[in-house]
Amino acid sequence: MSIEAKLQEIKSGILKKIEEADNVNVINDIKVSVLGKKGELTQVLKSMKDLPPEERPVVGQMVNSVRAALEEKIAEKTKQISKLMLAEKMKRETIDVTLPGVRKMTGHRHPNQIALQDLERVFIGMGYEVVEGPEIEYDRYNFELLNIPANHPAKDEQDTFYITNDILLRTQTSSVQARIMEKGQLPIKVISPGRVFRSDEVDATHSPSFHQVEGLVVDKGITMADLKGTLDQFAKTFFGNNTKTKFRPHHFPFTEPSAEVDISCFKCGGKGCRFCKGSGWIEILGCGMVHPKVLSDCGIDPEVYSGFAFGIGLERVALLKYEIDDMRLLYENDIRFLQQF
Ligand code: DAH
Repeated sequence: MSIEAKLQEIKSGILKKIEEADNVNVINDIKVSVLGKKGELTQVLKSMKDLPPEERPVVGQMVNSVRAALEEKIAEKTKQISKLMLAEKMKRETIDVTLPGVRKMTGHRHPNQIALQDLERVFIGMGYEVVEGPEIEYDRYNFELLNIPANHPAKDEQDTFYITNDILLRTQTSSVQARIMEKGQLPIKVISPGRVFRSDEVDATHSPSFHQVEGLVVDKGITMADLKGTLDQFAKTFFGNNTKTKFRPHHFPFTEPSAEVDISCFKCGGKGCRFCKGSGWIEILGCGMVHPKVLSDCGIDPEVYSGFAFGIGLERVALLKYEIDDMRLLYENDIRFLQQF
């Protein structure tokens, strides 16, 4: 077969293959098979050394024109395939904007946290500062400076988690009172929310760890009337304007006089219902005038200064406000429960 016929055979064979190719990889393989180092055209070029010198330029030209024709076809086909592939890809990646979206699950505030922020808002509105104290506390702040003597039952191991003899998990946020007073920056007007710990079994109203919000005001001329007015206002803002408060005499070692405060049941308005166990009243906090001994032990002159304090159980308030009847629900973190608030 003449070289020319051979070249034509190669050309038409390859053109046919290119025509049939349906992806870029096949095209590349074809390209290598004809134009590559060991390709068919390259072989022809190599065999030119066996030709008489005068034929070489003619054959060279023929090879070049076949090469040019093939290269052109390859480029054209590659372009065509790329275009097709792009169109297909675009079709595959079309976004149907009418499909419903995938809703992201976002978390939200825990009932405790909602109650705390509501509560803080009320007191911040009355000019209180929010301060925090440590959960791991010295006996001195949790008990001693609060006029709770060594043999007091609250100090019993059955009520308190001790770490050492004089370091414990605080049993009350009242410990922050002593810390603040000891600093000696007067006047004082703070609330202090935080976690407290007691060696209690878990049940519907008890947990070994719960939260309190402590309040403390110390200034010249603070009286029981200030305490009553403040807590009455708090109850009205927090539980509703019709809420009435009742101060029942009580005992706390660090206040004198001391009281427990009941609010009129916001469910039945005081008539008596399941919620207030028929009494019309619900207990919400403990309070009192800061004991003169506590003031002086903390370095404040009780002849010049006086103050009041109160302690609110946060869970208690949250349970009341959201009408939850079991404290355990607050800690189980069941998403179906938490999503209701
Ligand atoms: N610390 C008390 C308790 O845990 C609550 C309390 C009562 C706090 C009277 C006070 C207060 O500041 O004045 O039971």
